[in-house]
Amino acid sequence: MSNLIKIDEENRRFKLDSGDTSYLIMVNDQDMLYHAYFGRKLPDGDYSYLIDTPPHSSIEAIDDRNGFWISDNAMRLEYPVFGRADKKETALEIKFPDGSNVITLAYKSYKVHEGTVGIKGLPAAYANEKSEAETLELVVADDSVSIEVHLFYTVWRDLSVICRHAEIVNNGKNSVVLKRALSAVLDLPERDYIMTTNCGAWASERRIERHELFSGVQGLYSKRGNSSHIHNPFVVLQRKTADENQGDVYGAVLAYSGSYEMLADVDAYGMTRLTMGINHDCFEWVLEAGETFATPEANLVFSHNGLNGMSQEFHKLYRDHMCRGKYKNQRRPVLLNTWEGCYFNFNEDTIVNIAKSAADLGIELLVVDDGWFGHRNGDNSSLGDWYPNEEKLPSGVKGLAEKVHAEGLKFGIWFEPEMISRESDLYRAHPEWTLCAKGRPISQGRNQYLLDMSRKDVQDYLYDCIAKTISDGVDYIKWDYNRNFAEVGSQLLPPEKQGEVSHRFILGLYSLLERLNKDFPDVLFESCSGGGGRFDAGMLYYMPQTWASDDTDAIKRLEIQYGTSIVYPLSCMSAHISVCPNHQTGRTVSYKTRQDVAYTGSFGFELDPTKMSEEERNLSKATIQEYISYGDMFVNGTYYRIANPKDDGYAAWMFLSTDESEARVTYATIDHSIEGPVPRLRIPGLLPEATYVDEERGRTYTGAYLMYAGILADIPGDRGTVVYKLKRK
Ligand code: GLA
Repeated sequence: MSNLIKIDEENRRFKLDSGDTSYLIMVNDQDMLYHAYFGRKLPDGDYSYLIDTPPHSSIEAIDDRNGFWISDNAMRLEYPVFGRADKKETALEIKFPDGSNVITLAYKSYKVHEGTVGIKGLPAAYANEKSEAETLELVVADDSVSIEVHLFYTVWRDLSVICRHAEIVNNGKNSVVLKRALSAVLDLPERDYIMTTNCGAWASERRIERHELFSGVQGLYSKRGNSSHIHNPFVVLQRKTADENQGDVYGAVLAYSGSYEMLADVDAYGMTRLTMGINHDCFEWVLEAGETFATPEANLVFSHNGLNGMSQEFHKLYRDHMCRGKYKNQRRPVLLNTWEGCYFNFNEDTIVNIAKSAADLGIELLVVDDGWFGHRNGDNSSLGDWYPNEEKLPSGVKGLAEKVHAEGLKFGIWFEPEMISRESDLYRAHPEWTLCAKGRPISQGRNQYLLDMSRKDVQDYLYDCIAKTISDGVDYIKWDYNRNFAEVGSQLLPPEKQGEVSHRFILGLYSLLERLNKDFPDVLFESCSGGGGRFDAGMLYYMPQTWASDDTDAIKRLEIQYGTSIVYPLSCMSAHISVCPNHQTGRTVSYKTRQDVAYTGSFGFELDPTKMSEEERNLSKATIQEYISYGDMFVNGTYYRIANPKDDGYAAWMFLSTDESEARVTYATIDHSIEGPVPRLRIPGLLPEATYVDEERGRTYTGAYLMYAGILADIPGDRGTVVYKLKRK
């Protein structure tokens, strides 16, 4: 008998107790999977009264077999289908050989799996030990068209998270066409929510936006081939009275790196349907007889402890159950990336000098960014020609890696594998490897085309190039991806499968990454996409950190990092100190502000250390040592947002150590004026009865004082930061 999933076989009811939540599914009289509840944990009992469809008008269509009187359109359903009476956003649409798209899914059976089940070819949260999770598999089917849908729900012992995905099986003799196959739907009985989404642009990602739900469809999507700078694949619905530390909040994230949709559809009966999955405009899939199609995973969180409570569940899920490899719970090496320090202008001597200077500062990893390969001296050539530029690097990657290693540093290098420059040997040799519609014009972006990642020969070519470079002594790879999709097509696939290319591209990317992860477990991979254009849970499965944004300005980063922290663990977010005036904004802020803001993520530098002043070098030495000493807290501790830089006009956040004995609070001003007002920082997550000491200021507080009365912030001046280090006595 399972502990987390409770099944009433006779009445066909399923109660999923995940962390502090319960999720109830019931089979109704028409054999449909009815969504009864998701929220705060409920004791076991008879919840049949939760099949409580609101009264609805006679305009709704009703399938009245067996005297049934309720329209699909007024029900809360686990996996609603297109083609019948449900006129809201739906999860599944299939075109059958007879031209019809009508499908009726009826409950068939269930199975409980210990632990997690994984998804073939796609990222999915995993249990470290089987006892951490259980997975319910529900089978619904339409025998008249020989289609089965398997719905998976992973329930966690210690996390308030439900992980869902669907698998669609064609048991018929003919192929069918999937027009839409979403991962999950969450039908909530009310509409009384604030919707938090994010909106961004290149160098300005994940800026939080909030609005009250309104009637109709709202939400976000990407049709760009990546999860995108514009909208990250997460949606939050919070009660109007909820805030950072209290109140009911739902969070939904799609663990997928390609084109997606996440929509909230508020209906005439005051209910809210949240749908999430692959973007159906960019998708069509020929499901052959006997084949199965698996959707990406959706991760749903409920928290009654406000936004911080929700974020902390996501952080634990992604840090401990999505990231993999030896670095997942480890402090990442302090790195120096050459991009803003050199751009394309470097050679072996430059890099070796940088290595010597970086080693003296205490930096642990040197990363040579774009420009080391082919004939690359600008952004207009050589992507695909992954062999060293001999003019710049006469002793190759191998010789350079040896010299960098000799300085006591690890050695990292930049790749943009999924791209091909028009001006490259690879394009001259394999124009057919380009993602395009045959015979039609091809759009370029940053002077480059995309490779057709759905092709095995392309994946193999990239594997060989990357594996060869790694074997030359590479410890870290920055995996970039700098343009959006335009014309999507593969020259290898037949016409009827061209609609599959967008998703096959992502499957090809995942397959290549899986191979590289498996064969090179010691290499640290960092994802990047023109900054944070592909900062998603899917990529975190293969690469435990992502470059958050090409904007390295500390003040601009406050908002970007705030938005990132809503879902993603801070250890997965790279943040670097760069020079002033900042290259993106032209702004100058103090070294201390740049340091305190960069400490929030996986920390490093983005500059030429040989050009630093003596004062900055001394500061950097101390900064690096301090960061290293906080390593475990920054990676495995609990992160709290205290203020929202956009709404509050200042930023504040904190880390609490894993044993909860130490807190590090950072306060940053954005536009400080001498006459105030100066905020009071109320510090969450402490023990009210305990005593905390701020040694630097010689002050002792009770936890209750810090939590309920707060500290009147010190004044660091405009765009300054103050740090409070609190130790429990
Ligand atoms: C992208 C990345 C940058 C840098 C450049 C190199 O813009 O986000 O960090 O690597 O490419 O061309």
